[in-house]
Amino acid sequence: MNVSKPIAPSKHKVATLESLSESLVAAIRSIPPHEQAVAEAPAIDARRPASSFLDPGVFKREQERIFRRLPMAVTVSAMLPEKGSVIAHNGYGVPLLLARGKDGVVRAFLNACQHKGSMLIEDCEHHKLSRITCPYHAWTYGLDGALVGVPREETFKNLDKAERRLAELPCKEAGGIVWVILDRRAPPDFSLINADLSADLTSLGIGDMHLYGRQTFDLKANWKLVLEPFLEAYHVQRLHSKTVGPMFADVSGVHDLLGPHIRQISGRGDFAPEKLDRVGENIHKMVTITYQMFPCTVVIGSPYYLSVMIIIPTAVDRSQVDYFMLTQEPPNNAKAEELYSRSLDLILKVFGTEDFRAAEISQVGLAAGALDEVVYCGLEVNIPVWQKILDSYLAE
Ligand code: FES
Ligand SMILES: [Fe+2]
Repeated sequence: MNVSKPIAPSKHKVATLESLSESLVAAIRSIPPHEQAVAEAPAIDARRPASSFLDPGVFKREQERIFRRLPMAVTVSAMLPEKGSVIAHNGYGVPLLLARGKDGVVRAFLNACQHKGSMLIEDCEHHKLSRITCPYHAWTYGLDGALVGVPREETFKNLDKAERRLAELPCKEAGGIVWVILDRRAPPDFSLINADLSADLTSLGIGDMHLYGRQTFDLKANWKLVLEPFLEAYHVQRLHSKTVGPMFADVSGVHDLLGPHIRQISGRGDFAPEKLDRVGENIHKMVTITYQMFPCTVVIGSPYYLSVMIIIPTAVDRSQVDYFMLTQEPPNNAKAEELYSRSLDLILKVFGTEDFRAAEISQVGLAAGALDEVVYCGLEVNIPVWQKILDSYLAE
């Protein structure tokens, strides 16, 4: 019989139970045996008006109360791997420039020259720079935003370079994610990125991981329809029946709130609590650890890689998803390369043609006015939990 086994990269680093934060370990240890979880799945009555996904007024309010106020995940640290790394980002409708300075600190600026507003970098690729030079008249900036060079400076009367720094936005790098507050006049309040969340992300090693692959998706769906599949287990055995469904159990797992962020952990298909006692075992082979970081970022652990998805609303019925596949280290041999490349193909297929597709076809039905409200079951219990958090911000 030909049994194909996943080939692990040789000499790979793995996350083990021992390496995780205390609260993560406690949550993992609380996962019930599979049969018990099936038997205890709750029945719930939860509904949401279809207008929540369709109404431009709701979208506007989300933008004002959430997306322009709170820290937004913009990218992963691995996109800015070294001093001098610079990238542009335009997903949230604000042209951003992120730069890791000589001091190692990531700063966020508006991607706009202080001479006439020209974008400094147009693509969203990684650049290694010691200075940022405007393509228009070549004003030059340091990675800290200071204006350091003006061609033919003597022809400007009363130009004070110190007053022409790049416009800086509040920015924080924590747990391997770069967060930015998109209003430059907003106070730099990053309390949303609380200590529990940072401890978890740090213990998962996200900040030290290697960016193996990334892809951007433009979807015809409201951002919440894109996010919801990552809050529930109900679809996994059904929508993913031909791909990853068989690897997972038909249960919703355990969940905890880390402030407004939801941590979901479920045993993989063959989970048994006693397996956790195997010291040094790759924890992602035993359980699936998922975070929905408020409002729009998803982290999912897999045995040999970790997925980060930033779901960015671009219109009431449009979203951009920035997907990042992170590995513990760059592939160091042909087997690792093969494993990572196969994994990337599979995950892009699963997300792209299954989860994201489901969001797009739901959008079509809801936009047709086919139903006034959607309804959720006990395997989707985290969706109403998350909606309550969302509503609390919208009501402020
Ligand atoms: S717009 Fe940048 S140098 Fe003129
Ligand atoms: Fe899914």
